[in-house]
Amino acid sequence: MNDLAGKHIVLGLTGGIACYKAAELCRALIKEGATVQVIMTEAAAQFITPVTMQALSNRPVYGSQWDAREPNNMAHINLSREADAILIAPCSADFMAKLLHGRADDLLSLTCLARPIDKVPLLIAPAMNREMWAHPATQRNLAQLRADGTTVFDVGTGDQACGETGDGRMLEAEELLEDVIAFFQPKVLRGQHVLVTAGPTYEAIDPVRGITNLSSGKMGFAIARAAREAGAEVTLVAGPVHLPTPRGVTRLNVVSAQNMLEATVERAQEATIFVATSAVADWRSANASDQKIKKDGSGTTPTLQFVENPDILATLAQSPRAVSGDLFCVGFAAESHDLLANATAKRARKGVPLLVGNIGPATFGQDDNALLLVDAHGARELPRNSKLALARQLVAEIATRKKI
Ligand code: CTP
Repeated sequence: MNDLAGKHIVLGLTGGIACYKAAELCRALIKEGATVQVIMTEAAAQFITPVTMQALSNRPVYGSQWDAREPNNMAHINLSREADAILIAPCSADFMAKLLHGRADDLLSLTCLARPIDKVPLLIAPAMNREMWAHPATQRNLAQLRADGTTVFDVGTGDQACGETGDGRMLEAEELLEDVIAFFQPKVLRGQHVLVTAGPTYEAIDPVRGITNLSSGKMGFAIARAAREAGAEVTLVAGPVHLPTPRGVTRLNVVSAQNMLEATVERAQEATIFVATSAVADWRSANASDQKIKKDGSGTTPTLQFVENPDILATLAQSPRAVSGDLFCVGFAAESHDLLANATAKRARKGVPLLVGNIGPATFGQDDNALLLVDAHGARELPRNSKLALARQLVAEIATRKKI
C-alpha cells in the first residue's frame, strides 16, 4: 500500500530514548509513500545522530534556526509551508510544555509556532518516564494542547528504559504509522458505532475436533480498521483467527456461532452500523461429545448429526432498531458461482439494505478481493484491490447510504 503517497511530513525529534524508534518510524513513513524532512532538537541529537536520520530520510537534517543553507535564512517558514503535517515523535515532556506556551527558541518549536495552523496539523507522540507522564503539569499541558487542536497519540505501557514500569513509553513505529495513516483518512463515520463480525466460527464435535471453514477474517478486520480510521467507535466480534487487532478497535473473541450471536446481540444495543463479514458455520453438531470420541478398533465410524446455527445477520436485521433505521445492517455473501443472482436473492432473504457479494474460494486467506455491492437500486462492482482499500471504499458507501 502507499497510504501516505504525496504526503510531506516534517518529523520532529526531541530528547528522549525513544529517538531510536523514530529511525524506524522514518523508514516506515517513507515506505508508505511519504517524503520526510527531519528536524532534531539539540537534546534529540544526544540520543541519535543526524547522520542516521539523514541516511534514512535521504535529506539533510535541520537542527538550528540559524541554518544558512536556506537562501532566505528562514528554515522555520520554508519547512512549515511545505508540510502536510508536523509529527513530533518522540515528544518530550519539556517540549510539550514549550509547545503549550508558544515558545520558539529552537528550530522545531519555532517551526510549530510558525506553521499555518489550519493547513498543517500538529501530531505528537509523547514519550517519557511514567512519573513525568502522570504529573499534573504534564496532564494539564496535554489537555491544553488538545484544546489547541493538537492530535496527541496514545502512549504505550510497559517496561521503561529507566527500569520502571508504567505508562509513558512512545508507541512502536508500526503503531504510530497506523495512527498517522488513520489521521489522513476522511472522517465519514464520526459519531457512529460500528459492529463487525469476522472470521470463521468453530463448532466442536468433541474436545479435540470440530467443524470450521477457511475464512481468514482479513476482510472483516480491514473493515474494522477502515471504520475506525473514518472516526467510528468500533467493536469487532472475531471468530478464531490469528490476526492483530486494528488500533483503537475493541475486540471480542468468540468460538462458536452461538457465542458470536450472544456477543453480537449484546453489542448491537449501542451500534448504529452492523457489518456481518463472518463466515458463520451453518451447522453445528447435534450430538457433540464431552469426551474425545475414540476409535474402538472395529472400523465403525461415528455418525454425526447436525442442527442449524442461528442466523446472526438475519436476527439483527429483524430487530426493532434495524427496522426503524437506527441500525444499518450490511451483509456479505460468500458464493462460489452466480454472484449477482445469489447476492441479490440473499439480500432479499436476509432483509438488509446492502449486501456485499464476493467469491469465497477466490478470496479466503488472500490480501485482495473484488466486491459486488447489491442494494435496492441494483448492483455495483468494486474492482479487485487490497482488502483495506476495498474496506475504505465500502465504509464510504455505507456513510453515503446511512446519510451521515
Ligand atoms: N451469516 C450470519 N449467521 C449465519 C450465517 C450467515 O450472520 N448463521 C451472515 C454472514 O456473516 C454474511 C451473510 O449472513 O454476512 C451471508 O452468509 P453466507 O455464508 O454467504 O450465506 P448463508 O446465509 O450461510 O447462506 P448459504 O450458505 O446458503 O449461501
